[in-house]
Amino acid sequence: MAGTARTKLRSQQWFDNPADPGMTALYIERYLNYGLTREELQSGKPIIGIAQTGSDLSPCNRHHIELAKRVRDGITAAGGLAFEFPVHPIQETGKRPTASLDRNLAYLGLVEVLYGYPLDGVVLTIGCDKTTPAMLMGAATVNIPAIALSVGPMLNGWHRGERTGSGTIVWKAREMLAAGEIDYSGFMDLVASSAPSVGYCNTMGTATTMNSLAEALGMQLPGSAAIPAPYRERGQIAYETGRRAVEMVHEDLKPSDIMTREAFENAIVVNSAIGGSTNAPIHLNAIARHLGVPLDNDDWQSVGHHVPLLVNLQPAGEYLGEDYHHAGGVPAVVAELMRGGLLPHPDARTVNGRTMGENCAKTENLDDKVIRSVSAPLKEHAGFINLKGNLFDSAIMKTSVISTEFRERYLSNPEDPDAFEGKAMVFDGPEDYHNRIEDPALGIDENTILFMRGTGPVGYPGAAEVVNMQPPAYLIKKGVHALPCIGDGRQSGTSGSPSILNASPEAAVGGGLALLRSGDRVRIDLRKATADILISDAELTERRAKLEANGGYAYPEHQTPWQEIQRGMVDQLSAGMVLKPAVKYR
Ligand code: FES
Ligand code: MG
Repeated sequence: MAGTARTKLRSQQWFDNPADPGMTALYIERYLNYGLTREELQSGKPIIGIAQTGSDLSPCNRHHIELAKRVRDGITAAGGLAFEFPVHPIQETGKRPTASLDRNLAYLGLVEVLYGYPLDGVVLTIGCDKTTPAMLMGAATVNIPAIALSVGPMLNGWHRGERTGSGTIVWKAREMLAAGEIDYSGFMDLVASSAPSVGYCNTMGTATTMNSLAEALGMQLPGSAAIPAPYRERGQIAYETGRRAVEMVHEDLKPSDIMTREAFENAIVVNSAIGGSTNAPIHLNAIARHLGVPLDNDDWQSVGHHVPLLVNLQPAGEYLGEDYHHAGGVPAVVAELMRGGLLPHPDARTVNGRTMGENCAKTENLDDKVIRSVSAPLKEHAGFINLKGNLFDSAIMKTSVISTEFRERYLSNPEDPDAFEGKAMVFDGPEDYHNRIEDPALGIDENTILFMRGTGPVGYPGAAEVVNMQPPAYLIKKGVHALPCIGDGRQSGTSGSPSILNASPEAAVGGGLALLRSGDRVRIDLRKATADILISDAELTERRAKLEANGGYAYPEHQTPWQEIQRGMVDQLSAGMVLKPAVKYR
């Protein structure tokens, strides 16, 4: 139970066990060889791991190499001993075929380290998209005292007096390149202007989302998520995080005491308020599964959909990471939610031993252009809906990003204002889309719904961020800037188009998308949260029999051992894309 003082430290089973001098000596001698003393290892000081996710290969998290020194200082000051160790790198933008292939690999590696080495507690260094869920999933499984530390976002990017945000600027640069306003070199310069310092993406992409949610779950010190990486407060909170890790070991305050069902409900509400990424349900559902906390996409709709958007960050809004911090970061968002009566569980416990409500209630919102109040939000109903039908059992849509143009074109029938029907155009993976989208023979028009399949955790190992597809150039020239997009893959947290994502089960495991054919009519009802191919059940059954007779939906060969191993045991996006055999270990 939390709060019960520990009598014997876990690490003493390795380093101070008089009943077994042989093993104790073997365990201890090699840790002395770089200068540690027996006194340090045997005096009952808590040993705190620093799970290091930064490296030259992971620039978003690389500043953790510096911050770890301050974490270590904090651990030492509180009477602990720091053991820093490397975590398998995950770089969102650098890893092929996709960084999400590595989330579960880093998770497995962390579990082995936390379980197999003499650690009493751990500081989880988080930042780039998947590093955060990987670390929280590992801490959930092993359940030793754990506290997360964000690396912090980059400073704001600027180009000719305008803010340029990570990822988001790429979409704009593509349009400028296509329009001939910039060339190849101008393209590189414009995009690179969004990355002016160490840190993770400065937009409300998956990184800012997941770091904010790690704080909303109670796993970071209050205010920690939003401090920009180069700011002095970042080093200061690294020190405080190290100190607190030692105290948490003495208090035996574990991940399962903090990441409760109540904490997840708070995080879902915060996700809506910050305009969080559609990757968040995948990762939070995964963390919950490793804790044994029931959580699914129905909860995301029922707990989160009604919550308004308060945070004005790109891509949905105007500002960037530094502005978010100056306005007060996560505590200011939570305080606004509390004032509006929208935080479901102010009494949820956090890593500092106090409740979410105690930590945040008095936080002042220092810039109401960046963080709005519940009474003057940027958008109503900013959470997700969870669509179902014969196309899939679950798919996520952020209805608040539907543009006026889109609404007028697709949702303007007064008798049926929340539904639209269209003709399906189906692509099997991103290459197929790129090869064929401009082909006029496909007959793509404003009544077409674009589908992308073969891009789930099995089909495209790890699930690709490719569902947001642009219409063909001839339609864009006619003023059709977005067609409805549906797929079994993901969407980058830094893009802002209205898409139906994360469809589960995916085509590769026989989901309804595998039965869809170009030309089929499809109906989407946003009020009922349904998505269906408009064909008879008999026809569906016939198509399924044919698919199965042909050996199922075909997907590309494995390229690495891990791709093959993960494909054999990975669950669907709606179920967190976890490794199925792993969830029973707690
Ligand atoms: Fe690493 Fe965005 S690419 S945080
Ligand atoms: Mg991403």
